[in-house]
Amino acid sequence: MANTQRAQFSSRLGFILAAAGSAIGLGNIWGFPTQTASNGGAVFLFIYLLMVFVLAYPLLIAELTIGRYGNANPVRSLSAVSGGQKWIGRLLGLVGLLGATGILSFYTIVAGWLVGYMVSPLLALTGFTDAAAWLESFSETRNLALMLCFMVPTILVVRNGIANGIERWSSRLMPVLFLLFVIMVIYILFQPGAMEGLKMYLIPDMSHLSPGLVVSAMGQAFFSLSLGVCVMMVYGSYLSKTANIPKTAAQVALLDTGIAFIAGLLIMPAMFVAQHNGVAIYSEAGALLSSDTLVFSVLPAMFDTMGTAGIFIGFAFFLLMVIAALTSAISLLEVPVACATEEFRQSREKAVWWIGGLITIASAVIVYNFGDLFGLVVTVTTEYAQPILGLLFALVAGWLWHRNEILKELVQGSPELGETWFWKIWPGYVRVICPILMLLVFGWDWI
Ligand code: PHE
Repeated sequence: MANTQRAQFSSRLGFILAAAGSAIGLGNIWGFPTQTASNGGAVFLFIYLLMVFVLAYPLLIAELTIGRYGNANPVRSLSAVSGGQKWIGRLLGLVGLLGATGILSFYTIVAGWLVGYMVSPLLALTGFTDAAAWLESFSETRNLALMLCFMVPTILVVRNGIANGIERWSSRLMPVLFLLFVIMVIYILFQPGAMEGLKMYLIPDMSHLSPGLVVSAMGQAFFSLSLGVCVMMVYGSYLSKTANIPKTAAQVALLDTGIAFIAGLLIMPAMFVAQHNGVAIYSEAGALLSSDTLVFSVLPAMFDTMGTAGIFIGFAFFLLMVIAALTSAISLLEVPVACATEEFRQSREKAVWWIGGLITIASAVIVYNFGDLFGLVVTVTTEYAQPILGLLFALVAGWLWHRNEILKELVQGSPELGETWFWKIWPGYVRVICPILMLLVFGWDWI
């Protein structure tokens, strides 16, 4: 097999930026803060952190390790670790691949809106008011056009491969993202009204604690760490054998969680700054406005109240979101592309265009059947497929894969691993505790 010359990330930092680039996305900057806002502030934050460290982190290690061991696309890697039951691995790989394409097909639509909101104020400033208004109005043609504007760069980055495409762009864009973030947070925290949002974010309101909240926090943790749809597995397959997986995974998880936390420091205060500037942030029923209303009406309305400065701040904010979305979208596209290049022995160039084309068609179908399909695809892929597949990957690693093989894979990057507490705990933990915890979370909600 061509595995000996298989592509690799060129450095450990490059891998961390790419994996963190996948993890840090709309889930952090939009999903996490809005969920926190409507779920009792710090209560959600606390349960979320618990879910990340208790469930998501161990499973992230499992996905990365399976991928690196297989040194191949997820379908093949999963079958390589499935012992005598290769078909189980192959099947799970295929379902994961479908999950990744499903997520990408709705993700590009949302990312397209962000592109629209990024460009619209600039068009308004230069006198193209009609075009600016069109970009902010909801229509099928607009959704389609903007989705294409986002899909094409995603395809182009993946076409250039691992080191020259994914790694290079993640390494360029992630520092810009961090910088924009810091500037925005500092700016917002000094605006009148910000402290009220900060209080709501950091002071827990225990009345919100419920099984539903725990399930949401778990789903959010899986989505945020890009688990369950083979993304981390395919990135793991390009990771050097000398990298220490538990440590690298911890760095990725910390970056991702850190950015989610900081996004809360940005969005929650921003809502109350908006209110201070006369923008409504509560619905008539008294509930805090959430998700799309927040990002697509409250925040732009706040930027409007800030005059010319608001135009640039608005641009920076949406640029930040677009960058975060792009580094996630490329990781999603890499999953089917890696499978096609290896399974059908196609060139990357060819695979990326036909697969990108098919996903674009799927997105277009969602655009034209928005009411029926959008919510459905989001729910099926993120609320069901991600946690359930994440759990099944853990079961494969825990029950079908030989413990000694796992150790052999892990010690390559950390020779002392066999003696550490990590190795005493992790295998049994992934085998027994993770599945039980997940079933408890689901079960508690269903009862
Ligand atoms: N983690 C990304 C985010 O937070 C979304 C994502 C999910 C990316 C699954 C890849 C796989 O937005």
